[in-house]
Amino acid sequence: MSSRRWTSSAQELLTPGTGPERKPPGFVPTKNCNPCPFLKRALYSRTAQRFCWALLIVFAIFKLLSLAQKGDKLYFREHAASYFQSLDILENEYSVVSHWTTHDIIPVTCYSHNAHGRHVSLQSAISSGCMSIEMKLFPSGNDLLIGPIPDMLSRELNLRNLYIDPLLRMLREVNTSLETPHSDANRNEDEILGLFTNDPTQTLVLLIDFDADPDRVWSQLLPYLEPLREAGFLSYFNGSAVVHGPLTIVTTGNVPLYRVLERSTFRDVFYDAPLMEILPVSSQNPPQNSEYNSRNSYYASAHFRTAVGSVDFNGFSESQLSNVRQQVQLAHAHGLKVRYWGTPTWPHELRNYVRRILIREGVDIITVDEASQPHQTTLESRND
Ligand SMILES: *[C@@H]1O[C@H](CO)[C@@H](O)[C@H](O)[C@H]1NC(C)=O
Ligand SMILES: *[C@@H]1O[C@H](CO)[C@@H](O)[C@H](O)[C@H]1NC(C)=O
Repeated sequence: MSSRRWTSSAQELLTPGTGPERKPPGFVPTKNCNPCPFLKRALYSRTAQRFCWALLIVFAIFKLLSLAQKGDKLYFREHAASYFQSLDILENEYSVVSHWTTHDIIPVTCYSHNAHGRHVSLQSAISSGCMSIEMKLFPSGNDLLIGPIPDMLSRELNLRNLYIDPLLRMLREVNTSLETPHSDANRNEDEILGLFTNDPTQTLVLLIDFDADPDRVWSQLLPYLEPLREAGFLSYFNGSAVVHGPLTIVTTGNVPLYRVLERSTFRDVFYDAPLMEILPVSSQNPPQNSEYNSRNSYYASAHFRTAVGSVDFNGFSESQLSNVRQQVQLAHAHGLKVRYWGTPTWPHELRNYVRRILIREGVDIITVDEASQPHQTTLESRND
């Protein structure tokens, strides 16, 4: 029975002058009013249809919820519970962050923009424990604008206003506040302390995604960083070793490696190495000889599905787990930190389970997917 037919016949009937509701009260249908039963049937049919849809949707939601719950219980019993009793990240993203903060382990990369294009302030990101902040840069005139996509850029939201200036201010504050007589007597005079109060040696990574025009972004980026460089706040490679500072600049996306490498005696912009291209370390291939090592790169990253595959409610397979272990071990042997992006984001139980296993296996940072933005919601609600 086609609903369109019923609807159109109903509409015909409802046009002024023809429908029954136009008749005076007490009107009794007569033989002349043939269409009346049709109107009734049309209404029934629509109501029935809506009812069916509602039933179907309720059923689907119920089914998904119960599935998620089942999967959740299954995972945590089988895989994770024993490892993470003290690290209760079950509840929500907020508890993930706040809990990790107290443990000095805050392996979260946060995006600098939330789903609505609103900027998450540096302060809120740091206080929520983002050890790494990812942003996309777009060149515009002499500026480097920050935004998720070119259509959402604004002149005020540029690298200097959002990051360079506030970072300089915050780091100078930390530095001077520690000059008081009550500060830690054991503190090394030359040491510049970082932004995380619970672990001042922890560096904050600015993960800069080169989306458009990599060569132009690169040549504009270096002068932008000058104030931070001059103040000695950036991690750098001095030609023989990496000196760690409170800020580390890492580039990702379309950055050509040669741009990073061409500065061989001084380098304060590091590369996000492709995790899948890291070769095993051997006597023939020591880390310092390999293409990617801690002198030129900071992270080694890969898309989760490419590197590990898809994980569903059956959990990680043995071979997936061994892949993760191998990738982590390889990257660490080269002095690089492992980062997977594009990890599952929904349902939340699956997301938390995957994160939990990855951290257990030694993955250094979890990237919160831009599309889902659970973390940003948290940041906002925390600041409101
Ligand atoms: C840190 O503070 C000391 C003492 O106040 C000062 O001499 C130094 O220049 C400061 N460093 C930076 C990078 O601001
Ligand atoms: C580079 O830094 C390391 C560690 O701080 C230091 O031992 C070395 O002398 C520095 N090299 C140069 C060329 O400054």
